[in-house]
Amino acid sequence: MSRLEGKVAIVVGAGQTPGETIGNGRAAAILYAREGGRVLLVDRRLASAEDTRAAIAAEGGEASAFEADVTSEAACAAMVQACVERYGRLDILHNNVGIGDGDTSVLKMSEDVWDRIFAVNLKSVMLASKHALPVMRAQKSGAILNISSIAAVCATPLTAYKTSKAAVNALTQQMAIANAKHGVRVNAIMPGLMNTPMAIETISQASGVPREKLIEARDAAVPLGGKMGTAWDVAYAALFLVSDEARFITGIVLAVDGGQSARAG
Ligand SMILES: NC(=O)c1ccc[n+]([C@@H]2O[C@H](COP(=O)([O-])OP(=O)(O)OC[C@H]3O[C@@H](n4cnc5c(N)ncnc54)[C@H](O)[C@@H]3O)[C@@H](O)[C@H]2O)c1
Repeated sequence: MSRLEGKVAIVVGAGQTPGETIGNGRAAAILYAREGGRVLLVDRRLASAEDTRAAIAAEGGEASAFEADVTSEAACAAMVQACVERYGRLDILHNNVGIGDGDTSVLKMSEDVWDRIFAVNLKSVMLASKHALPVMRAQKSGAILNISSIAAVCATPLTAYKTSKAAVNALTQQMAIANAKHGVRVNAIMPGLMNTPMAIETISQASGVPREKLIEARDAAVPLGGKMGTAWDVAYAALFLVSDEARFITGIVLAVDGGQSARAG
């Protein structure tokens, strides 16, 4: 278990929405630590990042929590500085935060909802990367992984979420080319329908659809086995993309979706 031996990772959004299953950010952080990585667990809710730290410590892994709202440039700068101070380097930046709260059609869209979703889903990726890249360039190595969504390429009623995630895909390719000569790789994952609290508990509460009914409907929409994926499916794909096994891979946007985007054509 040493695919990330000697590496230091920042996982942004390493806490999670409360719920019955594990979230994408927490699963990735736990897996990185299991594989020998030392992990800075960043979240605007420190208590939730601390829960992830406790789970990692219980398995004998090394991690520490850091409070930051990554829509703020000062917070992103402080996060990278804290990582270098605590661990001496930065090899992996995993940008996991993403929200869709209040999203709707263009006709009903409020300026506040649009701006908030773009700040959390897109601006945060740019700001965190802006402050991580100088450290990685100086090391002549590094891997940035952005968590997008298949909403970027599939039909959805979520307007700001979809367009912000499509922009994350474009930003991924842009940063991949701009940083290739510096030895820094930049890739993205588009999760499909996942059984995570962010999806199930949040949508169930917002829509009033009972949890079990929602799970049934989402399962039925997945080609592979008729069942949603879990946060571990995203985490294992992430582990590969940030590890040296993917040393020749940059600028890709990988769907982890049980075939759903293939259905879209
Ligand atoms: N669950 C799905 O079905 C699904 C599908 C496609 C894409 N995704 C993507 O997966 C990612 C989230 O996965 P998750 O399961 O870890 O979600 P989550 O909501 O459980 O956890 C995300 C964490 O990010 C933190 N966060 C939110 N805004 C922040 C900010 N501004 N600064 C710092 N921290 C902040 C939250 O406090 C939370 O702890 C998102 O990018 C989402 O778009 C999820």
